[in-house]
Amino acid sequence: MEQAAKSIVFLAFVLLFFASSGVADPLTYNVLNYGAKPDDNFDSTQALVAAWTLACGSINPATIYVPPGRFLVRNVVFRGQCKNNGIVFRIDGTLVAPSDYKVIGSTGNWLLFEHVNGVSIYGGIIDGQGTGLWTCKRSGKGCPSGATSLGFSNSRNIVIRGLTSLNSQMYHIVINGCNNVKVEGVRVSASGNSPNTDGIHVQSSSGVTILNTRIGTGDDCVSVGPGTNNLWIEKVACGPGHGISIGSLGKEVEEAGVQNVTVKTVAFTGTENGVRIKSWGRQSSGFARNILFQHAVMTDVQNPIVIDQHYCPDEKNCPGQVSGVKISDVTYQDIHGTSATEVAVKFDCSSEYPCSNIKLEDVKLTYRNKAAEASCSNADGTASGFVQPSSCL
Ligand SMILES: *[C@@H]1O[C@H](CO)[C@@H](O)[C@H](O)[C@H]1NC(C)=O
Repeated sequence: MEQAAKSIVFLAFVLLFFASSGVADPLTYNVLNYGAKPDDNFDSTQALVAAWTLACGSINPATIYVPPGRFLVRNVVFRGQCKNNGIVFRIDGTLVAPSDYKVIGSTGNWLLFEHVNGVSIYGGIIDGQGTGLWTCKRSGKGCPSGATSLGFSNSRNIVIRGLTSLNSQMYHIVINGCNNVKVEGVRVSASGNSPNTDGIHVQSSSGVTILNTRIGTGDDCVSVGPGTNNLWIEKVACGPGHGISIGSLGKEVEEAGVQNVTVKTVAFTGTENGVRIKSWGRQSSGFARNILFQHAVMTDVQNPIVIDQHYCPDEKNCPGQVSGVKISDVTYQDIHGTSATEVAVKFDCSSEYPCSNIKLEDVKLTYRNKAAEASCSNADGTASGFVQPSSCL
């Protein structure tokens, strides 16, 4: 008898435990229930906003669900603070931007998250329908600058996993002013001659990780702006495009630096650059330090390894062309493959602040089956292991 009573008390505790630990399904807001229609010609923006408002206002974690189908969405800001730190966007379908680029072309952002904490996007396709704007830009005047497809601003604890971004008007994904962001298993695709369609741009952010991602665009695969630290990029395939670029830095006189960046196990195919650090030829308080480029394979890359401190488009506003950006502690380790030009390693540093402690370890780059060339100016450092082209440091 006493034994049975004990069992009942135990069972009650077990039930209580499961009830309080929230094993129950999280709230799910299916956008179909808020008026969305899987129809290219029906505007589902309000439905998305309605689902966001409910999810954001919920005290408990919540999921916004976008089922299969194409949903037309205009520019939206998903704004925090929210009442919970666990909102999931689960997307099985495609979010499509308006086909007329003028509708969102001057708004800066198509899908923007601002001041959110704990938002995850799982799966889905976002289609920026940028081709019309690219055509306009190529033919010259009067075009809007275009919208970034997906932006996170001043946010933290963000996950973007399994998302595909197609044909953005401008940048595909921008992470600005964020802390702790994981981008994983993402695919970015736009044509190799599409203007300004950078894959992922990170700036003023800390603790961003980009993993297992494929990026082909008409501009930088990943670009890293001022104020970025503790950035980790691993297993990224890049091409077509302009490669992975730290910079442009030093556009402003007062500028935050970039530090502790790891770029590891990356493949560049037919890109304009491989791993690049780029700064304006202007005075600036900026810097780039503690950068590691490790295990990179280059296939037919025009500038596999490059530091360019003389960036000055149209040769305007760069008096004397001297960069104030201080570049130091940059390591290139196990970088091999083919260069599409004779000079495969180029360190073109600032005469006022030479690059310091550049390290080359196990580098082998060829041009037309022969050793490629290296060119250095104002660069200081060491080479170890097998290094070809032979170091000019
Ligand atoms: C550098 O960044 C990585 C994440 O990318 C982090 O784990 C590590 O602690 C950072 N190192 C320093 C010295 O801050």
